[in-house]
Amino acid sequence: MTTPVSPVSDRRETLVEGEFAFTGADFKRIAALLYEQAGISLPDSKATLVYSRLAKRLRALGMKTFGEYCAFVAQENNVEEQQNMLRALTTNVTRFFREPHHFDDLRASVLEPIADQVRAGRRLRLWSAASSSGQEPYSMAFTVLSVWPNAAELDIRILGTDIDTNVLATGRAAVYDEALLEGVPASMRSQYFERDPSDRRNWRVCEAARQMVAFRELNLNGPTWPMKGPFDAIFCRNVVIYFDEPTQERVWQRFAPLVAPGGKLYVGHSERVGASVRAFESAGLTAYRKVGGR
Ligand SMILES: C[S@@+](CC[C@H](N)C(=O)[O-])C[C@H]1O[C@@H](n2cnc3c(N)ncnc32)[C@H](O)[C@@H]1O
Repeated sequence: MTTPVSPVSDRRETLVEGEFAFTGADFKRIAALLYEQAGISLPDSKATLVYSRLAKRLRALGMKTFGEYCAFVAQENNVEEQQNMLRALTTNVTRFFREPHHFDDLRASVLEPIADQVRAGRRLRLWSAASSSGQEPYSMAFTVLSVWPNAAELDIRILGTDIDTNVLATGRAAVYDEALLEGVPASMRSQYFERDPSDRRNWRVCEAARQMVAFRELNLNGPTWPMKGPFDAIFCRNVVIYFDEPTQERVWQRFAPLVAPGGKLYVGHSERVGASVRAFESAGLTAYRKVGGR
C-alpha cells in the first residue's frame, strides 16, 4: 500500500510512502525522461501510479531508492531500461474492432468508393499509427477482406507501428487468446481466424490478413518518420491522449502530407483534431477527412 504524502512541487520530500524512497525530484526526472523519449506528459496526479508501476522494476534491479533508479535509467546508452520504463508507464490496452463505427466508416467512406479502382490495380495503403499488439491493424485487414476477398492479389498494404517492440512482436505472431476475440462477430471469427494448432485455446489470424500487415517500430514523436505515404486512411487512436496539446497538434500536422486528399484520419473517442489543423475537416464521429478531392 502506498500513500502520497506531499505535493510534487516539494522536490526533496518523500512523495509516496512505501518500500522505496520516492521524492518530488525523482518524479520530475522520470516525467522529463518520458516526455523527452515519447512525448508523454505525466501530470503530478500520476505520482502514485508511477511509484506502483516502477516499484517492480526497482525490485527486479535490486535497488533501494528511486534516486538510484533515475540515475540508472537516465544513462544515455541505457536504451533497454528506458524501454522497460516506457512499457511500465504506458498502457497497451486494445481490442479487435474497438470503436466499431470507425471500421464501418472505413468501409463505407474510404474502401467501397474505390472498390473498382483497387480491383483494377489502384494502390491502397492504410496505417495503424499506435498499433499496440495488432488488434487494430488486423481489424482493418478484416474490413479490407470483407470488401476484397482476394486482397492478397491486389496492391493493398497495412502498416502497424508502435514505440513498444514487445507489442509489435505479439502483432507479428498474430496469435490471440480466445477471450481477446470477444469483439469479433461470429461470422468473421470463422472466416478470418484459425485455431492455433500448438495451443487449441488460442486463435491465429488468417494468412490473408497476416500477409497484408507489416509491423515496424516508430516513435510518433521521433525526429523522422521513414514512410512517404500517401495513405488512404490513418488510425491514430488512444495514444495522443497521453501527449500535451502542442505535441498532439504536431502529430496531426505531421500526418497531413501523408494522407491522400479525401483520405481519412481516425482518432480515439476522447481525442480531437483542432480547427488549427487546417488540412483536416471533421467527417463523422472522431473521424476527419483530408481537405481536397480524391
Ligand atoms: C492504448 S494503446 C492504443 C492501441 C490502439 N490504437 C487502440 O486504440 O486500441 C496506446 C499505444 O500507444 C503506444 N505509444 C505510446 N507512446 C507512443 C509514441 N510516442 N509513439 C508511438 N506509439 C506510442 C503504446 O506503446 C501503446 O501500444
